[in-house]
Amino acid sequence: MCGIIGYIGMKEAVPILLGGLKKLEYRGYDSAGIAVLGRGGLAVSKEKGRLSALESRLAASPLEGTLGIGHTRWATHGEPSDLNSHPHLGEQQKIAVVHNGIIENYRQLKEKLVQRGAAFQSETDTEVIAHLAEQFYRGDLKETMIKLSEVLEGSYALGIICADKPEVLGAIKKDSPLIAGLSEHGAFIASDIPAILEHTREVYYLQDREIALLGRDSCEFFDPQGEPLIKEKEEVTWSLDSAEKGGHPHFMFKEILEQGRVLRETIQDSLWKGRNHEVLEGLDIARYRKIVITGCGSAYNAALVGKYVFEELCRVPVEIDIASEFRYRDPIIDASSLVVLISQSGETADTIAALRLAKEKGAATLGIVNVVGSTIAKEAELCLFTSAGPEIAVATTKAFSAQLVLLYIFSVHSAAALGAITKEEAQILGEEIQSLPDKAEEVLSSTGMIQKHAASWVGKKSIFFIGRNIDYAIAAEGSLKLKEISYIHSEAYAGGELKHGTISLIEDNTLVVSIASRKALYPKIMSNTEQVISRGARVLLVGNAEVSGMGDDLVQLSLPRVYELFSPSLSVLVLQLLAYYIAANKGLDIDKPRNLAKSVTVE
Ligand code: G6P
Repeated sequence: MCGIIGYIGMKEAVPILLGGLKKLEYRGYDSAGIAVLGRGGLAVSKEKGRLSALESRLAASPLEGTLGIGHTRWATHGEPSDLNSHPHLGEQQKIAVVHNGIIENYRQLKEKLVQRGAAFQSETDTEVIAHLAEQFYRGDLKETMIKLSEVLEGSYALGIICADKPEVLGAIKKDSPLIAGLSEHGAFIASDIPAILEHTREVYYLQDREIALLGRDSCEFFDPQGEPLIKEKEEVTWSLDSAEKGGHPHFMFKEILEQGRVLRETIQDSLWKGRNHEVLEGLDIARYRKIVITGCGSAYNAALVGKYVFEELCRVPVEIDIASEFRYRDPIIDASSLVVLISQSGETADTIAALRLAKEKGAATLGIVNVVGSTIAKEAELCLFTSAGPEIAVATTKAFSAQLVLLYIFSVHSAAALGAITKEEAQILGEEIQSLPDKAEEVLSSTGMIQKHAASWVGKKSIFFIGRNIDYAIAAEGSLKLKEISYIHSEAYAGGELKHGTISLIEDNTLVVSIASRKALYPKIMSNTEQVISRGARVLLVGNAEVSGMGDDLVQLSLPRVYELFSPSLSVLVLQLLAYYIAANKGLDIDKPRNLAKSVTVE
């Protein structure tokens, strides 16, 4: 989703803003722009398309000044275009704003402004903010932002500069993330840490309706009423290297290869000791009659895996739901429910809304989150952190794997606490979990084989994924990954469901990826596999089921042995690599697939 950067300091703003925007590209965008306040006044440069287009425009018509704001836009109101891209100016061209979020009452606000004679350049909700800001401005940016927060409904992270105020960069947020930071040469605002990490490791997380006023060597904060606020700095512990490609062709590939380490660190922090372990120790699972797990996209697929694991180990029913559906079905939850919210970013609007609804209904909430200072991490009653580090590729890989392992640990811990398994059994399962990083590295060391097959599947129109039980859950993630980055149509089916319609889509040479890791279900999934082969399909079998008599129609990729319920952590690696290599062979923009955003901060 949209990315914001702002700078005020001793250096020229343009290179710093462009550098920051590059670090925010992963959020997904379709246009970019910056506004700089220099000796010549307030100047804006913006361009549809990639940042390189904006860079060329700026090379041809440079902007000078040491105060500026920048933005990468992911279109919500109005098509991607030069005019709709940010920053937006008010009518007097005096105030420039960049905005992430959606203003829900912008139509009403715009109508009133139009009645007063205002003329708008764009179709965006953001331009309304710039007009209102100029209307409210009486020489004080803080007061202007307070007034804006009184009339704006919806979500916003805003960076504001004013031609009258060359010494101030203003910011305010509600329901969209925004951080501030101070370096030796200036102060910053940004949507996310990588944008400013090159300049500072000390950041401040703005909470809803808090205001920041930044000077060249100062960061001042105010509460929603405008009273001064002392905010704690937080130290960023990960390095910029972890937000760089490190010689790999794509962030996604680098992040796939990091998964052994990510699993190891997440397990270390959760299984027998560490901060996640303390959270689990403090969780009285027996109090809850109902467990609900929710999330969006891959996080929902992790919930699907979690349901199988938790139910089988704890013998307690688990409900799962897509976060965007959860709040519209008036979920039956109360103080005896535990709602688990999975989110890499911790900023997904639908998941935040699900969290807030769960709290409203009195349920206990547990986040499983990657970004430490994020909204879900802060608002959930309890939070487990995936130690994935910054994930830059839009399609999640390492954060998903860390979510899975936390769900296993949560399930084993709960099963032991509920007496559904003995201490000894919990110990054995813990050892199985501990074996996952090495086994993951073993799978990741044999990428060549997957690469070879992927090369021959590039031209497929459609690819199906089938599995049963836990393999069905991970099939859903394999299919999502493939369609996200390769743009090949794909669907995931429970093996037994194929014959109820989908089998009619199987033609000569259709590729079916069949996942088989549950021994008791081998005969079932293999019979589904034979059914598609007999209708002309070619099959990639992921797993260790015995195969006979399927000749060249089937290729098998075996996996290291592991406790079956934890096998998704290994099979998913093959599925991620498959999607990656197919997309790479098609020469696609793997880290930034079209129309997708890393962090979906709007509904
Ligand atoms: C977007 C991303 C997905 C991600 C989903 C949930 O759609 O493209 O990869 O799974 O959001 O994001 P979250 O940050 O909540 O895990």
